[in-house]
Amino acid sequence: MCGIVGYVGPSGAGEKSVEVLLGGLKRLEYRGYDSAGVAVVDSEGHLDSRKRAGKLQVLVDDLEADPLTDGATGIGHTRWATHGGPTDANAHPHLADDGKLALIHNGIIENFSALKAELLAEGVEFLSETDSEVAAHLVARAYRRTGDLAEALRAVVATLDGAFTLLVVHADQPGVVVGARRNSPLVIGLGDGENFLGSDVAAFVAYTRRAMSVGQDQMVTIRPDSVEVVDFDGNPVETTEFDIDWDASAAEKGGWSSFMAKEISEEPEAVAKTLLGRVADGAVTLHELDGVADRLATIDRVIVIACGTAAYAGILGKYAIEQWARVPVEVELAHEFRYRDPVLDEKTLVVSISQSGETMDTLMAVKYAREQGAQVLSICNTQGSTIPRESDAVIYTHAGPEVAVASTKAFVAQGTALFLLGLHLATLRGTMTSEAIAEQVTDLQAIPEKIERVLESSERISTLAGWMADTRSVLFLGRHVGYPIALEGALKLKELAYIHAEGFAAGELKHGPIALIEPGQIVFVIVPSPRDPRSLHPKVVSNIQEIRARGARVIAIAEEGDAAVLPFADEVLHIPLAAPLFESLLAVVPLHVFGMELAAAKGLDVDQPRNLAKSVTVE
Ligand code: M6R
Repeated sequence: MCGIVGYVGPSGAGEKSVEVLLGGLKRLEYRGYDSAGVAVVDSEGHLDSRKRAGKLQVLVDDLEADPLTDGATGIGHTRWATHGGPTDANAHPHLADDGKLALIHNGIIENFSALKAELLAEGVEFLSETDSEVAAHLVARAYRRTGDLAEALRAVVATLDGAFTLLVVHADQPGVVVGARRNSPLVIGLGDGENFLGSDVAAFVAYTRRAMSVGQDQMVTIRPDSVEVVDFDGNPVETTEFDIDWDASAAEKGGWSSFMAKEISEEPEAVAKTLLGRVADGAVTLHELDGVADRLATIDRVIVIACGTAAYAGILGKYAIEQWARVPVEVELAHEFRYRDPVLDEKTLVVSISQSGETMDTLMAVKYAREQGAQVLSICNTQGSTIPRESDAVIYTHAGPEVAVASTKAFVAQGTALFLLGLHLATLRGTMTSEAIAEQVTDLQAIPEKIERVLESSERISTLAGWMADTRSVLFLGRHVGYPIALEGALKLKELAYIHAEGFAAGELKHGPIALIEPGQIVFVIVPSPRDPRSLHPKVVSNIQEIRARGARVIAIAEEGDAAVLPFADEVLHIPLAAPLFESLLAVVPLHVFGMELAAAKGLDVDQPRNLAKSVTVE
């Protein structure tokens, strides 16, 4: 939560900090949009700053009306409020040292009360209710003592508990931005005569595709021509450069009405790119797992950990891995896993799933699992993020940047990566014939084109959503892989349209949820294929009849040509034929579209729903 940007460029004519910072904040706004602010240091050593409550546009309008004096050095912040409400005063940057030092913070400083009491006793005046302002005054105090910004910040981080990425600039040190990180993200962008810092690479991908990560408990100092990384003890740290495989346009709306609309349109590509280079001649090759192949061959259990939409994708992985690789799989919310004293050993494979690679609950669960001796394989969409660095191996999904807060294309990419992992494990464990694997691979390769076809019927879903703008409650039912899709459909409605929505396993209906059905209740039902050998289809059709008999309005998502549901459903949204496990990647698409369209019909901001941030980097 919170997005941060830092920049140092050439001084003199054409100094452009404000432009770089605002551009970076625009691309990081998905991380929080309660307030935004920038601080700029010019070559004369003047520090100027501006911050405003509300979305970034409020700050942009303010700066247009009353521009800052630009400089070659600056920091910028977009906030998701934790300590103190979304006000101008609580917005970052926070100033100290008589306005000569500016600091921005992502994370939570857990021991801020004690530190604040100490500063208050020394007569420091606070202008905000934030934990972050405490850090600003502490750095100012240390700077007065050391005269060196990096040394001052290093002294302060040793006294902080919790999670933080901190960036600091000082009027006396034009051309320098200093940063530190613990349990919150920070990446470096390497330019030509200019350098960047950001919460993720989206912050600076418009300027450079060369990047380096800052590790846990490390500090960085950027100048126009140098980047220096040290640990919290001041020892130099070796960092490895990587190339960003997103381009700047991928992080722009590109003519779409919203990032979410664009990202849903990219679902076919997200699947295709995640398959690219990993399937050939009917086989799956995951070279990224070569280093852990020996250990993978000996696992006796898999635990998938993730949060939100990523956890629902994890359930798809459970069904696929158990069916194909014959190894038991549990799926657990990362925040529950970590605190329940799970039994883990070296034969446990923990699979973490995270689009951002920064979700704190997932990150902490990964660290915990490794401490307990389990091996951790992560499925992640964001290069340079923390979770892959903390894992034994990583399968990157190649969905491209996901900016809308609600996850869509990442879900289908995660499902695809899990299907690949299932087939890979089946190959290693010899639990499927090569013919059976080839059949699944062929079916999987056909999914992108089939998602395209689902998207072609989006207009019908928009019309349905328009009719339902006043709906107060929607239920979702599914069995087998339809169950996580029901959960995902419900989550999208909650977070986007603020409608009470629940997803249920259809078999659970008569164990309680059917009591919710009253005349007019809208129920989406994900209907498995009538060709399904496990005969789930007739069971789901019976469930539809049971709820219809009690007055429910049923919207069925069913395979093309499924005539059995027609008499019992008020609406049928058809999806192309696919193998039973892969139907999930098709059935979810109309639900993503529906969530977005219903939110739009209610006049809501589909990219930035209230109270949320894309990366949940605090517990
Ligand atoms: O970045 P991650 O995949 O770790 O994020 C996990 C969840 O926070 C995320 O999926 C969240 O549930 C989305 N808002 C769902 O649309």
